[in-house]
Amino acid sequence: MISKRLRTLSTLVPQGAIACDIGTDHAYLPCELIKRGISQKVYACDIAKGPLQQAEKTISEAGCSAQIETILCPGFSKVPTDANCMIIAGMGWKTIEMILENDYDRLSQFNRILLQSNRDVNQLRAWVSEHHMTIVEEKVVEDMGKDYEIVCITTDVHEGYTPEEIKYGPVLLKRKDQEFLEFLDRKIKKNELIASKVTDEHKKNQILSEIDEMKQIRQR
Ligand SMILES: C[S@@+](CC[C@H](N)C(=O)[O-])C[C@H]1O[C@@H](n2cnc3c(N)ncnc32)[C@H](O)[C@@H]1O
Repeated sequence: MISKRLRTLSTLVPQGAIACDIGTDHAYLPCELIKRGISQKVYACDIAKGPLQQAEKTISEAGCSAQIETILCPGFSKVPTDANCMIIAGMGWKTIEMILENDYDRLSQFNRILLQSNRDVNQLRAWVSEHHMTIVEEKVVEDMGKDYEIVCITTDVHEGYTPEEIKYGPVLLKRKDQEFLEFLDRKIKKNELIASKVTDEHKKNQILSEIDEMKQIRQR
């Protein structure tokens, strides 16, 4: 069964999109997009032969070979120009950043780019802000005890985001839905536990002020 994280990603792909999944690994996401009728055509891309062979096996077993094309390439360098939605998920921010920057001039071909970095999501948002792109949707998903933030962007011009928006997410802050509030609660709890164990006063105060910041966001 597909993970909750990948399933959530699939719900953020616009209906009818020609999607490309970069770093597809097992190609679970492309198969989900086809099986749920979200896409009629998907490009499953990976830089390494092993994962792509695994992807081909999954695609064939799912009966999706006619709709999913596998491509061996770094990033989206060989993705055809008809793709209009890109997903880059399950990697560190530095890898995602390299993929985005390597073919920067082609980013505007995508109506929506879904980014899910396993770490440093604030750096991801800072990059989006520095490049004056727009965050159109965000989601928090808890999967197997781990929190993931999904950031959907477009290349439409945006004047930039505030430090608070970069840290917590402009859409998440505005919407403050139940998932985001529960996400904040988990972070507060985790930080309270860390603060109770930290002996360095400076570090402890930093953590406590972050807890305070999150409590204020929660309440306003
Ligand atoms: C941890 S898996 C993530 C799989 C899937 N995207 C997910 O979210 O579950 C990372 C995959 O990205 C591939 N990868 C790493 N760097 C890449 C790059 N520069 N371009 C394309 N694929 C890359 C790896 O070969 C690997 O299969």
